[in-house]
Amino acid sequence: MTTTRTVRRTGGQAAGLRAATGLAAPLPTLPAVAVTGGKGGVGKTCIAVNLACALAGLGQRPLLVDLDLGLANADVLLGVDPPRGLAEVILGGADPASVVTATPHGVHLLPAASGREDLTALSEDQHHRLFQAVARCAGGHDLVVLDTAAGIHRTVTTALRCARVVLLAITPDPTSLTDAYALLKVLESHEPGRDVRVVVNQAGNLAEAQATCQRLREVARRFLGRDLVFAGWIPRDRALTDAVRARRPVVAMRPTSPAAVALRQLAQRILAEDWAGIRR
Ligand SMILES: Nc1ncnc2c1ncn2[C@@H]1O[C@H](COP(=O)(O)OP(=O)(O)OP(=O)(O)O)[C@@H](O)[C@H]1O
Ligand SMILES: [Mg+2]
Repeated sequence: MTTTRTVRRTGGQAAGLRAATGLAAPLPTLPAVAVTGGKGGVGKTCIAVNLACALAGLGQRPLLVDLDLGLANADVLLGVDPPRGLAEVILGGADPASVVTATPHGVHLLPAASGREDLTALSEDQHHRLFQAVARCAGGHDLVVLDTAAGIHRTVTTALRCARVVLLAITPDPTSLTDAYALLKVLESHEPGRDVRVVVNQAGNLAEAQATCQRLREVARRFLGRDLVFAGWIPRDRALTDAVRARRPVVAMRPTSPAAVALRQLAQRILAEDWAGIRR
């Protein structure tokens, strides 16, 4: 009882302080998997989009959030052209729910914007508002998939701190491993011990995927003193390239292709194992 009252009082004081200083509410914890990777072009958006579509195909109501704020791509891969997005929410004060866009694949998209440099230089306060807006939109959805940008920018690291699960996408390229390690190192410096799972994309076969994951695991164990979980792998597949060009998710356009099968398996694993209690 005393504890509850103390917590409430502290929360009230914190809220008062925030109001007095003009700071936004603290960072929320989201029922989200954040797809990230450090390196550009490793397949983060393809994975995030198709994972969300596969989850919808399994009866879920996922919200996909495009956090590549200045170079948004998720709308392109889903074949929609939303007129407004997070730019209008963060910089224009629009209601976040009003920019959520339905797609033909059972996924709702919180879109970003393309070519908006101002979105790539948000303050800490604006980041807090951004993720509070995402939290508001998450209500009514079973889970959230965050598509992050390349790099170790604050928007990326903040997304990783808010998400219950981090899905680290890597490829067998050595530069992908070094960039993924760099991102992991930054994440560990903010919040050690987060639930990080590795998906190996564009691998030739399971053995190559496992060996790739193992290389990152060894470096993470040795230099960061933490382990990583192998979440799965997605083969290099022409069907995925064709689907991108057709602006359709591969799980919808070529559901029996090897990439689509692998992405559906990943979605099934998330639900079956309920990663980090991701669904509220
Ligand atoms: N498993 C795969 N098989 C074949 N091609 C793939 C695969 N995964 C991704 N690609 C190709 O790689 C391209 C880049 O993928 P994607 O846009 O998802 O990468 P990204 O990591 O989101 O890039 P960015 O860092 O620029 O946001 C896709 O357009 C697709 O053609
Ligand atoms: Mg991307």
